[in-house]
Amino acid sequence: MATRVKGRQKAGEAAAGGASGPIAVLVIHGPNLNLLGEREPEIYGRTRLADIDKELKQLGRELEMKVETFQSNSEGGIVDRIQKARGKCDVLILNPGAYTHTSVAIRDAIQAVNIPVIEVHLSNVYRREPFRHHSTIADIAHGRIMGFGAESYSLALRAARTMAEESRRRSG
Ligand code: DQA
Repeated sequence: MATRVKGRQKAGEAAAGGASGPIAVLVIHGPNLNLLGEREPEIYGRTRLADIDKELKQLGRELEMKVETFQSNSEGGIVDRIQKARGKCDVLILNPGAYTHTSVAIRDAIQAVNIPVIEVHLSNVYRREPFRHHSTIADIAHGRIMGFGAESYSLALRAARTMAEESRRRSG
C-alpha cells in the first residue's frame, strides 16, 4: 500500500505519492456490470465480472501491481469508494456504466481525490444510442478505452502501469 500524500497533485502525478511500493490500481465497475455474462451478451460479451476481476488480479501480479476491484449499483457507493481511495492509489480504472452519461457526483469525486482516471467501457459507446455519446468524465480522464469487451480492462491496466511509472519517474 502506497503512502498518503497531503496537498493536491496535477492529473497524471501519482496520487499515492510513492516512488516506492507496488503501483496501486483500483478498478471500479458501475451499475449492472455485476450481471456481465448474462446481461445483453451480444453487446457486453459472455465474460462474467468475477472472471474479469480474477484476470485483472492475475495480470496485476505479472506486472507487479496491486489491483483492487469494486462494483456498485449505486452512485453514492461509487462516490464513497473513490473518496476512500484518496492518497492510496496511483490510478483509478473506472467504468461508471450508465452513470457515465449522467453523473456529476462521480466527476466531482474524481476531481476531489485528484487520482488520474482511465475511463473504460466494454462497448464502443459511439456505435450505440446518442445518449451514450456523452460522458461526464471524458474531459477529466487521462485516457479512455472502449469497444474491446473484457479486454478493455486489461488494456487499461497495462496503460495504468505506464502512466504510474512515468509519473513516479517525473516526481522523483
Ligand atoms: C458501458 C456503456 C454504458 O452506456 C452502459 O450504460 C453500461 C456499460 C460499457 O461498458 O460499455 O452499463 O459502460
